[in-house]
Amino acid sequence: MSDTVTFQFEYDERIRCAFIGAGGHSYRNVYPAFQYAPVDLVAVCDVDVDRAATYSRMFGAPNHYADHHEMLAAERPEAVFIVTAYDDDTGRVQATGLAVDCLRAGAHVWMEKPAAASVTEIETLRRVSAETGRFVVVGLKKIFSPAFEKVESLIAKPEFGPVSSVYVRYPESLPPPEQRNDLHAMRGFLDHIYHPAAILTRLLGPVQRFGYEWEPQTGSSVATMRFGSGAIGTLHLAGGAAHTSPLERVEVVGRGANVVVDNGVRVTYYRPGAHREYGRSASFLVDDDVAPLVWEPEFSLGQLYNKNLFYLGYVQEVLHFCTSVRSGVAPTKGTLEDALAIMHLFEAYRQTPAGATVTLPSPRPITPEHAPGGS
Ligand SMILES: NC(=O)c1ccc[n+]([C@@H]2O[C@H](COP(=O)([O-])OP(=O)(O)OC[C@H]3O[C@@H](n4cnc5c(N)ncnc54)[C@H](O)[C@@H]3O)[C@@H](O)[C@H]2O)c1
Repeated sequence: MSDTVTFQFEYDERIRCAFIGAGGHSYRNVYPAFQYAPVDLVAVCDVDVDRAATYSRMFGAPNHYADHHEMLAAERPEAVFIVTAYDDDTGRVQATGLAVDCLRAGAHVWMEKPAAASVTEIETLRRVSAETGRFVVVGLKKIFSPAFEKVESLIAKPEFGPVSSVYVRYPESLPPPEQRNDLHAMRGFLDHIYHPAAILTRLLGPVQRFGYEWEPQTGSSVATMRFGSGAIGTLHLAGGAAHTSPLERVEVVGRGANVVVDNGVRVTYYRPGAHREYGRSASFLVDDDVAPLVWEPEFSLGQLYNKNLFYLGYVQEVLHFCTSVRSGVAPTKGTLEDALAIMHLFEAYRQTPAGATVTLPSPRPITPEHAPGGS
């Protein structure tokens, strides 16, 4: 994303968009992101039609609906945003089937995570996206956040060397083994695993080898992983952490260099090249050109970067989708392949007993000529 933000009304052309879902998260974080994207919101749909009416008034859409089929037929949107929740009967993700309907109606889809509750469902979305030639972007906000994008650019520098290991901490509880077949019991885990798993798989690709230990009182777990590059990683799901604690810590280690992100906004880059003789160094300070670099926001100015819409990556994930729709070039982040890698990890947690080690299936490639944006 460019550092300078264009406001919605400054775009010469905007994308004809509809929205399914008028709930809590979308009110806080997705509709407001449209202020900074080329979105022309033409309709809002929610099964609770009063909420659909309220949101359409608040966010400037001329029409509202209680039924998405009716909306798709009447409005013929170029793109649809879907932010719904979970089916009370089955525990499945409501957005999965809605996304299929939108793709079949000829619309590109931006959908909030989780995109689905199984690998099979993600494969269905991939197939329908390929058949219809329409894009899907999944709202993996973490990998769009400025701090994480900085990590990606730092570890790509030759001086960093190949990534050797990575650590991600995130508070999450894994239910007991006998409940893991029940999607209702797994709802919290499914809802949150997308965040830390998006970071890991974006940095290192799909997990190849996986195992974990589990603590039954809090449901916390510590996993070890090996990736295709040979790099290794650990996911510390810190169930039992205090609600007042920052949620996340990410550390990526290269060769003689490492980068740490604390609390999603504080980035420290420990650059390579400093040397202090052991037992003889009187100062911990090193030369300026090899000293650690630290970035963190000031929280005083009325700058866009001080909005959670920006530092959590919401505007950026919406803009990435809009750029794909306008250019016809397939998205490269928040893709269904990213979601697939996450779902393989989710299923591994469901199916693998603590203490065991398993090899995860490699994601099947989709035929290039059938992929959206392919020739
Ligand atoms: N990325 C993030 O930071 C983040 C944060 C919170 C929630 N979320 C995700 O956002 C999603 C929504 O969470 P929420 O707390 O806003 O839920 P919510 O229950 O408040 O909102 C969901 C809305 O979808 C509507 N809906 C359901 N099925 C529908 C259908 N078939 N047609 C039209 N409308 C339908 C419901 O009536 C409801 O108004 C979840 O997937 C959650 O994981 C993401």
